[in-house]
Amino acid sequence: MILVAGGTGRLGTIVVSHLVAGGHEVRVFTRDPERARHLNEGPLEIARGDVRDRRSIESAMNGVTTVVSAVQGFAGPGRVTPESVDRDGNANLVDAAGRAGADVVMMSIVGASDDSPMELFRAKHAAEHHLRAGDAPWTIVRATAFVELWAEILGKAPVFGRGDNPINFVSVRDVAAVVERAVDRPELRGRILEVGGPANVTFNELAALVQEVRGTRRKLHHVPRWLLRALAPVARQPRAALAMDTVDMTFDAASRRALIADVPMTALRSALSDAVVHARPHS
Ligand SMILES: NC(=O)c1ccc[n+]([C@@H]2O[C@H](COP(=O)([O-])OP(=O)(O)OC[C@H]3O[C@@H](n4cnc5c(N)ncnc54)[C@H](OP(=O)(O)O)[C@@H]3O)[C@@H](O)[C@H]2O)c1
Repeated sequence: MILVAGGTGRLGTIVVSHLVAGGHEVRVFTRDPERARHLNEGPLEIARGDVRDRRSIESAMNGVTTVVSAVQGFAGPGRVTPESVDRDGNANLVDAAGRAGADVVMMSIVGASDDSPMELFRAKHAAEHHLRAGDAPWTIVRATAFVELWAEILGKAPVFGRGDNPINFVSVRDVAAVVERAVDRPELRGRILEVGGPANVTFNELAALVQEVRGTRRKLHHVPRWLLRALAPVARQPRAALAMDTVDMTFDAASRRALIADVPMTALRSALSDAVVHARPHS
């Protein structure tokens, strides 16, 4: 039995449907079973719980041989934070897996480090550290920014900052393929798999590509850096936006493919075209 925390999310939804299609028994761990309603492909168990609540994890662990963590607490409902979900919630999952003798496949982020300007990246680094120090056999999957998420954001919001900082974007489908391999291949235990997309592009370039693929035209607005700086002390989103506009977010994905050479590296244009065709069932 594979327990997927975050199985209702953008990445988790794809991972769950592929694991089920591949014949795995899957249990989705969610704070609200209503959010799992779109996961209706094949037999699936749902366990209600919160990664911040150790007891709810314990009661979802029966028969679990692998825990997949695709949770994030950067944004979303339920007063989440990177510290409570990505750092401490992941630690709770890791500890429960260790007690149950289960493996852990944990989602993290390319650039996770303890001195990152982004708290999400620091929280992911702490979670990685906890996982590597614990008893559970582990695989860490670090990804760059999901292009489908940012296309959705750029479709309705302004560009945060100047938008001229190159960033690596990856298709969530390629990330899901890496997670599935991590689940299925014991030889990937003890490995950090880094997955990114074929190009580093700026938000301005991505916004133009999104409009081109969707066949829309609208003037691009920017939230100026001075406003992000003014808001940064009181909110993590402008802090993160400022960092994404200024720090090195590039990644050479082609050089990190040795262990995941059979995973496609989808071009951003085709990932975006695909996203237009398959509008997301859950948000
Ligand atoms: N999006 C990106 O660009 C990106 C880049 C690199 C890495 N990642 C990582 O990839 C993973 C998936 O990201 P995503 O964008 O697909 O996420 P998402 O769509 O925002 O979904 C977040 C998931 O986290 C779960 N969650 C949040 N707080 C929780 C809590 N307290 N207890 C239990 N579950 C909780 C939610 O489950 P319920 O609401 O059902 O409880 C939901 O399934 C995350 O680990 C993320 O950090 C994302």
